[in-house]
Amino acid sequence: MSEDAAIPWAELRARAHEASRTAHAPYSNFHVGAAGLVDDGRIVTGCNVENASYGLTLCAECGMVSDLHRTGGGRLVAVTVTDADGELLAPCGRCRQLLLEAGGPGCAVNEHTTVAELLPDAFEFPLPED
Ligand code: THU
Repeated sequence: MSEDAAIPWAELRARAHEASRTAHAPYSNFHVGAAGLVDDGRIVTGCNVENASYGLTLCAECGMVSDLHRTGGGRLVAVTVTDADGELLAPCGRCRQLLLEAGGPGCAVNEHTTVAELLPDAFEFPLPED
């Protein structure tokens, strides 16, 4: 469980909801937004972007991770994903793996859980020590 009172959950939820309004989802008509708190305090966001070749669809979390790197990198500390009504959404399986890479197992998700809880026994590439 994640219980870090310092995480601005209300703001993350508002930013995710706001991002969902920019979704390009003409096939599913399911608009998703994601917002993440970075370890330097900034907030990054993303929305889902669908494609006529359905399997190429980018989830909102993909856009958020791209925004993370585009705006200076760092590590995600907490993430919120919502639908167009601002209701919390569980990240899909692929995005759990993305969140592991961008935030690590301790990254808090959706006010009540963590990446470690959402993706137990995860695959991690054995990078050499630097
Ligand atoms: N979607 C996301 O953006 N994030 C998820 O974690 C789950 C699914 C999007 C993909 C697609 O555009 C729509 O929701 C319906 O699956």
